[in-house]
Amino acid sequence: MTAGSVTPDAVSIITTKRDGGVLDDRQIDWAVQAFTDGRMAPEQMSALTMAILLRGMDRREIARWTAAMVATGERLDFSDLTRDGRRLRTVDKHSTGGVGDKITLPLTPLVASYGLAVPQLSGRGLGLTGGTLDKLESIPGWRADRTPAQMAAQLRDVGAVICAAGPGLAPADRKLYALRDVTGTVESIPMLAASIMSKKIAEGTEALVLDVKSGSGAFLPDLDDARELARTMVGLGTDSGVDTVALITDMATPLGHTAGNAVEVAEALEVLAGGGPADVVELTLALAREMLAAGGIDADPAEHLAGGQAMDCWRAMIAAQGGDPDAPLPRADHVEEVTADADGVVTALDARAVGLAAWRLGAGRARPGDDVQAEAGVVWHVRPGDRVRRGQTVMSMHTRTPERFVAARAALDGALTLGEAAPEATSVVAERITVGG
Ligand code: URA
Repeated sequence: MTAGSVTPDAVSIITTKRDGGVLDDRQIDWAVQAFTDGRMAPEQMSALTMAILLRGMDRREIARWTAAMVATGERLDFSDLTRDGRRLRTVDKHSTGGVGDKITLPLTPLVASYGLAVPQLSGRGLGLTGGTLDKLESIPGWRADRTPAQMAAQLRDVGAVICAAGPGLAPADRKLYALRDVTGTVESIPMLAASIMSKKIAEGTEALVLDVKSGSGAFLPDLDDARELARTMVGLGTDSGVDTVALITDMATPLGHTAGNAVEVAEALEVLAGGGPADVVELTLALAREMLAAGGIDADPAEHLAGGQAMDCWRAMIAAQGGDPDAPLPRADHVEEVTADADGVVTALDARAVGLAAWRLGAGRARPGDDVQAEAGVVWHVRPGDRVRRGQTVMSMHTRTPERFVAARAALDGALTLGEAAPEATSVVAERITVGG
């Protein structure tokens, strides 16, 4: 038997990476598959992911790891979708997650209203950043589960679907993500990139726009790390035939005026009605422009927010998944206010603190499977640049369970920084990363 035909084993794979070596294709394929089907023990994969976090992976290793994750499950195929005899091009967006990030809600129907198909597989929240599905589940009757056939039908009829990724899509990621979450290895850039891109490649989208966050409320607060993650994912997507571009966007300040579930849906509806906070509108339009361009459509997306076409598509999308777009959203029985403790100008609002408070009020979950409160969240009434007076209400906390107020208030203590002068106005979009860029 030659050395090349020896079946890889977990210990030699771990020690190769521990000592700074490069894994070959067979080692990577074996580790990913063996962990998924239970032949590689969780403690061995924990050691390997920690070695990867500390030693990194080169571009070939990351590409192979991603492909191996895709290969553990099914691949969706929307390449034969048509409407009125015309083939529908699929375009998706993925955000690395941020506080108050409700952009998927207005963006998906907005882009679909121009005749593109937007298959948006989303997740539930874990930790401080909320999950799109948790937000949508605050709409009475709305259901997250769709089979691939239901997804295809909805894409044909409505153009937009936001739903849960089925268990058959990159099952390696499901197991690996749960393990990374409890072993301090979520921040590994190769693992983050492979996790996100394996699901997007398996989802079968033709084009993808990535919203990579940087700042205190992001997975990777440092701009250089966000840039590296963006470049890695753009490279992975492009190499797999997915037309991929990334925007690096600010997550030092939370988006809009709300973080939670129903409160964020209400804010998304304001945007769909042609209003809404300036930063949410700005980011929605920036991502929509990229998605439309990737889909070969030359249009100004602001027109379908002002003209109501995006709202019509939203209503159809919600109704197609059992939701009642006219039903009132749940409202919290208990609301407490936070007031300014001095006069001044708001110079910063810390996204991480706001996310933690929303989570403590019941908007997020500590463990997979925990219930979330639809009505829980934080609403802030001021943003950087606004002048406040001592005693003025600056935030409100919403919950079903008032015993949570003390911990949420502690999280918000110091969340608002006051100064003498307004900070310089900055754009939400910091950078655009394309292949080779
Ligand atoms: N989102 C993902 O899909 N994967 C990660 O690892 C982190 C965020």
